[in-house]
Amino acid sequence: MIVTIYTLFPNLVEPYLQEAILARAIHEGKLTVQIRDLRRFAGNASGRVDDAPYGGGAGMVIRPDVVTAALNEVTQDEPPPNETVLLTPAGERATQRTMEDLATQTHICLVAGRYEGFDARAESRFDRHLSIGDYVLMGGELPALVVLEAVARLLPGVLGDEDSHRHDSFSTGLLDHPQYTRPAVFEGEAVPDVLTSGHHANVAQWRRRTALERTAKVRPDLIDPKKLTPDERAWLTALQHNNNEDDA
Ligand code: ADE
Repeated sequence: MIVTIYTLFPNLVEPYLQEAILARAIHEGKLTVQIRDLRRFAGNASGRVDDAPYGGGAGMVIRPDVVTAALNEVTQDEPPPNETVLLTPAGERATQRTMEDLATQTHICLVAGRYEGFDARAESRFDRHLSIGDYVLMGGELPALVVLEAVARLLPGVLGDEDSHRHDSFSTGLLDHPQYTRPAVFEGEAVPDVLTSGHHANVAQWRRRTALERTAKVRPDLIDPKKLTPDERAWLTALQHNNNEDDA
């Protein structure tokens, strides 16, 4: 897969690709990342890419010709991108589903904004506008890296264990179950007995239930009762009933 990132600050993005799993994936050719400087399209010696907003107000707006030139350039790549994505807090909120969807493409182009944003005429040229959450950052560089990392770990062979992302939080529709490693007792707190019992079915049930319990407590909005077994629905109802009694 190819990921092309356009940014006004390539030096913010590049170091992130030089360590850990992303660096290995790139080295092994499982992923190609192209970082391109948007300022090449400034069209002036000073490298200015922005101008004051029509209608007045604070901040500067990145000119439409700059972004359009970048999109025209990447379209000439072989293969051209299947998806062009603008990172903006005004976009649709990205979820694990979004990342799974992007991970099926052969080439995605991510454009990181800065300042007050892009001229609306350039924004409309993108296939998607994505936000990584309901907060405003100083630019789209971190959001582009977030998308890159979330997508890269879904690509075949990037994580050591082929299967590991299938059990991730969100991929199952629930938050992940708790994990434990040695020592068996840490500061007086023991690992749950079931995990050392060697009984695989009980371990699987414990994991599913603790995942459900955690999700019900922290992110009840993620739970879709239709995706639970009747047993799980009954168990969850009993759990919530007990919790309500404890609160009373
Ligand atoms: N740029 C600034 N804030 C952002 C956000 N939350 N998501 C995507 N791009 C952004």
